[in-house]
Formats: sequence, C-alpha cells, structure tokens
Amino acid sequence: MPELTIAIAKGRLQDISLETFKQAGVTIADQDPASRRLRIDDDSGKYSFIFVKPADVPVYVEYGIADAGICGLDVLLESDADVHQPLNLGFGRCKLVVAGPADSARRGYNPLATARIATKYPRLTADYFQRRGVPLELIVLSGSVELAAVLGLSEHIVDLVETGQTLRENGLVPIDTILEISARLIVNRASYHLKREAVSELIVSLSEAVNSLA
Ligand code: PRP
Repeated sequence: MPELTIAIAKGRLQDISLETFKQAGVTIADQDPASRRLRIDDDSGKYSFIFVKPADVPVYVEYGIADAGICGLDVLLESDADVHQPLNLGFGRCKLVVAGPADSARRGYNPLATARIATKYPRLTADYFQRRGVPLELIVLSGSVELAAVLGLSEHIVDLVETGQTLRENGLVPIDTILEISARLIVNRASYHLKREAVSELIVSLSEAVNSLA
C-alpha cells in the first residue's frame, strides 16, 4: 500500500515533475510514454502517482484523494484551494500578464470604461482589475486566448507568457505582469499532520533534487 498519493499535472509540467522525482530517487519502471494509465505506483511502492489536468491538481489535494501534488502557482491561486504550499520547485517559470495589440498598449486603459478581458483565469483577472478600481467584463475561454484579442472578441487578454512567442506571432504585446509563476509542491492539510514523516521526507528529497538540477 503506497504511503502517499501524488497528483501530477499533465502537460508542460509532467516531464520535469517526473524528472525531479527521478533525481530524488523515485522511479517508475513501466512508464510507457504511450500509456493512457492515469494511476501508476513507483518502483518502491511508496508513492502512487495520478495524472490529472493542471486545474484539477489542487482539487484532488484539497479533498485528500491525493496527499500532495505539483502544479503552477497560477493554477493554485486561481483554484483558491485550502492546501499547504511547502515548497517552491522553481521550474515551470512563466508570467501571467495583461496583453493586447500594440496600439491599444500605447493607449493604455481608459479608467472610465469597462475593460473587456478574455482569459482562462477569471479569479486572478477579477482580483487584478478590482484592485485598480477598473470595471470589468470577463470573457472566460479555455485555450488559445490570444485569438480573442486578435479577432476583437476582447480588447485585452490575461494569459500566460513563457517565451513570448505566441504573443509575438499574433501581433500582441505584454502590458503588465500580474504574477510571476513557478511550480509548487502542495500538500493536503490533514496529510501534512497525519502523514508527517512521509510528507517531510518528500519535501526534503524534492528540495534536494531541485537544488541539484538547478
Ligand atoms: C500557453 C499560454 C499561451 C502560451 C504561452 O498556452 O496560454 O498561449 O502557452 O507560451 P509562449 O509564451 O512560450 O508562447 P498552451 O500552449 O498551454 O495552450 P492553450 O492556449 O490551449 O491554453
């Protein structure tokens, strides 16, 4: 019976998360890249890994189905999940920005007009504009958010920028940074106390692994 269940975000963070576990001595032998298995135990039988959509990692951890998980700070704050966040893993760096066409960036916001913003991050976007007292009309999308500003669905977008290539290739420019992002280890509040020894060991070994990979 595995000591800890760990939720891993599928997609951009998956390979680097598993690489970090490998550096920490946690290996998965039957990790066939073509496999569609969503739950796999590590070779020692100590950890059970589940692979879920990034936004679902905090959900599984908050509800205790997973004892711990790895997700980006963007996903964590957007979810508002009540979990421990003991370790900044440092990888998966990117930014959440307000962006728009170059001419609208030069004009800036009209403080008297409602900002019409397309995003996958309604909570973080609402917080940002509320803090600035700017009225907001949110258009919530699930992907390819840049297209909204290109086609005029919204004037601006709030989205992730990693290399900046997607913005550049679509004629958009960053206007303001809302959040600097990196991957975080998150831990269920009950597991943090009830499985203290296993959780501490996990934190220490991942912390050493990210330091040696850096
Ligand atoms: C993310 C993000 C941007 C892009 C940024 O999208 O939403 O579109 O990556 O990366 P870049 O600055 O290196 O170009 P993702 O590829 O995850 O897909 P999505 O648009 O469907 O969410």
